[in-house]
Amino acid sequence: MAEALRVGIAGLGTVGASVARVLRDKAAELTRQCGRDIVVTAVSARDPKRDRGIDLSAAKWFDDPVELAEKADIDVFVELIGGDDGPARLSVKAALEAGRHVVTANKALLAKHGVALAEIAEKKGVLLNYEAAVAGGIPVIKTMREAMAGNAVTRVFGILNGTCNYILTRMEAEGISFDACLKDAQRLGYAEADPTFDIEGHDTAHKLSILTSLAFGTKIAANDIYMEGISNITQADIRAAGDLGYRIKLLGVAQRTDSGIEQRVHPTMVPTASVIAQVHGVTNAVAIETDILGELLLSGPGAGGNATASAVIGDIADIAKSRPGFQHAPVFGWPAKELKPYKKARMRSHAGGYFIRLTVHDRTGVFAAIAKRMADNDISLESIVQQAAGPETQAQKTVILVTHETTEAAVRKAVEGIIKDGHLTDKAQVIRIERAE
Ligand SMILES: NC(=O)c1ccc[n+]([C@@H]2O[C@H](COP(=O)([O-])OP(=O)(O)OC[C@H]3O[C@@H](n4cnc5c(N)ncnc54)[C@H](OP(=O)(O)O)[C@@H]3O)[C@@H](O)[C@H]2O)c1
Repeated sequence: MAEALRVGIAGLGTVGASVARVLRDKAAELTRQCGRDIVVTAVSARDPKRDRGIDLSAAKWFDDPVELAEKADIDVFVELIGGDDGPARLSVKAALEAGRHVVTANKALLAKHGVALAEIAEKKGVLLNYEAAVAGGIPVIKTMREAMAGNAVTRVFGILNGTCNYILTRMEAEGISFDACLKDAQRLGYAEADPTFDIEGHDTAHKLSILTSLAFGTKIAANDIYMEGISNITQADIRAAGDLGYRIKLLGVAQRTDSGIEQRVHPTMVPTASVIAQVHGVTNAVAIETDILGELLLSGPGAGGNATASAVIGDIADIAKSRPGFQHAPVFGWPAKELKPYKKARMRSHAGGYFIRLTVHDRTGVFAAIAKRMADNDISLESIVQQAAGPETQAQKTVILVTHETTEAAVRKAVEGIIKDGHLTDKAQVIRIERAE
């Protein structure tokens, strides 16, 4: 049998401790599958005394993950610390430069430094595997990187943040407010104490930037993502969406257009009958559309110790099975040096249908003025409905419009005009509609 694969794990929190536990519990199966043992020989975390629910005394302890990456007797460095810089970046860089394979679950790090790290990995002829960084346990990286050669991707989109999907699912199922759902999500451990990163779309954006690079062979451009979170979504939106045959999801979407590539993260209306609309709670899903394959949808657990560990261990097992001298798949599907600069499509050129909810003064002429602003901007309407805004607001009415395909620029101009007309009593709500099968 080949020599054991020696693994060093930096970060022994939710994911790191699960990885160590599963490697121990599944040791015999992994040895049979990989043809060699996989042994954790070194570990690092902040607190050496913390009980992590697993005996790691056989592994050498390092206070400094960079020292582990450089000096430990390991073949693979597994980074599960987190953060887009600091010890995570320094230790991953050090491991790659020392010619060690790296496995990471760190989307923030890859979104910021992925291309630079990929260049080092490819120069050194080692693997940089990161299946757990996007959609947790769902094997979307391998699918896009290795199983879709020759396919030209036209669009990739997904539910990439379990916290947001959990909140939107409960808002719809139970009719409760965003704030109440968020508090519950925090109590149940689905949302962080500071949830901004999740609910305002940053986490989805990091993951989307990686998928965009894999889909289109472009350099990662995490700073070029249009981003809106879900904190403005109200029960009125959820109910109106349901009445119109839609469900609201926070989607990350990357799409090739005539003027470049769109990368956007925002609340989106998808048809209730579509497959992605059936993805509930903390579950994640990624849809990939290509010229040869058509549409593929992968869905499954996007976070949590075991689900994430499953992806990390798959990456480690791939390294255990790889043979010296064998050419590895490039980190982002194309050799890092061949990744093209990202050409951004302007958000104002985005074409699609729109849902617009307006709360207006209940007076004559408002309805007609709104319709005129739409017509002036060449926006054709699929429907326009006027409703009472609720018993406590008799002086107001709600107008809900659904447009046929138009542009972001036209919608923004029309809404600006309606605001100027002075008919609104509240902020206009605009939600993009996404085509989905
Ligand atoms: N949790 C998930 O469901 C999930 C899903 C997908 C991807 N990920 C990614 O996986 C990574 C780890 O997430 P997690 O949830 O496991 O985080 P976590 O529970 O906060 O664990 C972080 C670990 O890193 C250690 N650490 C922090 N600073 C360190 C330093 N300077 N030197 C050495 N160790 C240090 C901590 O040590 P102490 O324990 O001693 O404090 C802790 O063990 C992140 O990149 C995250 O984005 C997580």
